[in-house]
Amino acid sequence: MYGSLKTLVVSRDQGLLRQIEDALSGTLGRNLRTRLVVNGHTDPLHGVDFPCDVLVLHLGATWQEELESLVRMKPDARPGLIVVGDASSTQAMRLSMQAGARDFLPLPLVAEDLIDALARTALDQKGALDERRTRVTTVINSKGGAGATLIAANIAHMMSAVSDRAVALIDMDIQFGTLPLYLDLYPQRGLSQVLAQISDLDSVALDTFFVKHGSGVHVLGHTGDNSLHVEEVPASAIDRLLEIISERHEEIVIDLPRRIDAASVAAIERSDRVVLVVQQSLTTLRDASRLLSILRKDLAVARDRICVVVNRYDKGAAVTLKDIEKALSTSDLVQVPNDFRVVSDCINTGAPLYDYARSAPVTRSLLALQNRLIGKGEAASDKISLGGRLAGMLKMRASDGQ
Ligand SMILES: Nc1ncnc2c1ncn2[C@@H]1O[C@H](COP(=O)(O)OP(=O)(O)O)[C@@H](O)[C@H]1O
Ligand SMILES: [Mg+2]
Repeated sequence: MYGSLKTLVVSRDQGLLRQIEDALSGTLGRNLRTRLVVNGHTDPLHGVDFPCDVLVLHLGATWQEELESLVRMKPDARPGLIVVGDASSTQAMRLSMQAGARDFLPLPLVAEDLIDALARTALDQKGALDERRTRVTTVINSKGGAGATLIAANIAHMMSAVSDRAVALIDMDIQFGTLPLYLDLYPQRGLSQVLAQISDLDSVALDTFFVKHGSGVHVLGHTGDNSLHVEEVPASAIDRLLEIISERHEEIVIDLPRRIDAASVAAIERSDRVVLVVQQSLTTLRDASRLLSILRKDLAVARDRICVVVNRYDKGAAVTLKDIEKALSTSDLVQVPNDFRVVSDCINTGAPLYDYARSAPVTRSLLALQNRLIGKGEAASDKISLGGRLAGMLKMRASDGQ
């Protein structure tokens, strides 16, 4: 249950780190990192590039400074905190509470207590993590060329490279899909071959159909020799495909061709978010409005699951944001600027935007979109209501007369 928590353990004691690794690595796998502090910095998160959900902090000789540096962090930027230390120190407990600790585990550490504390943290963060159920994000264009493939490929890349998620990216355009090229990948096998034997596949066998990008993104695309005759894909095959992919991935991003058939309906129904990509042109808007109406009315996709992106946004264009808001009856538009040079360089070389032009406005806007899609910044309230258990422990301590 806590296996999906990205957990960082910081200690000055190699033996304790080993004990914790032995106890947790089976369940946490790649979600566990340990850090041996040798000297120097008192901020336990200094220089850490691991976006952790939970910090297990073993208090060292400089425990006061260590906790104070966590107290100074914004509560919503702090990971969940489990402190391991000398339980006879009321001062350490109090400061731990101020730092947002969920639990204070005494020494010598009992591994089962730590596992219980992690399990409770996973429960506490259930809203934030949604138990890390695999999230499906589908990107669909309102007209060919609107930018769906560019956006799908790049947000998937960012989910892996920036947010450290296990990401699968699927090109569902069986006939004309070219998504792998956006990441300089050339699959030998792809979605058509997977769908042909979907009932016999499990997640181990499926793994061999993915092409793997250096960032860690697993791409299911096409071989390039797409046949003229494309079989109708039944909804059950897409359901099964998403189910198998979910076993090994935290995020699934689907580049969906603009075609409403059984397969795309199955993908949309399973999607947590549908990103609809539009541009500022009247014909695109007309198509977008029809597509939105199908999504909202026929497929019953809730409004808050649909995210409209205005790609290649140009302030001076004849069709304004207000026009789009009115036509699509939404006030929530995400803008992605036009950047012909950077985008075409990236597509031509197969480089992700985040690698090629990290600070370009087009990249920054897609990064903001990616943050929004993975829910970064939305879970702050969960993390503020900390310390309940610790406060209870301290109260007990006070009533014990300590
Ligand atoms: N924000 C942007 N700035 C500049 N060019 C873009 C932008 N987004 C897309 N393009 C261009 O539009 C073309 C179509 O993009 P693509 O993602 O393949 O569209 P779709 O998948 O919707 O058909 C690409 O060749 C790309 O060069
Ligand atoms: Mg496309």
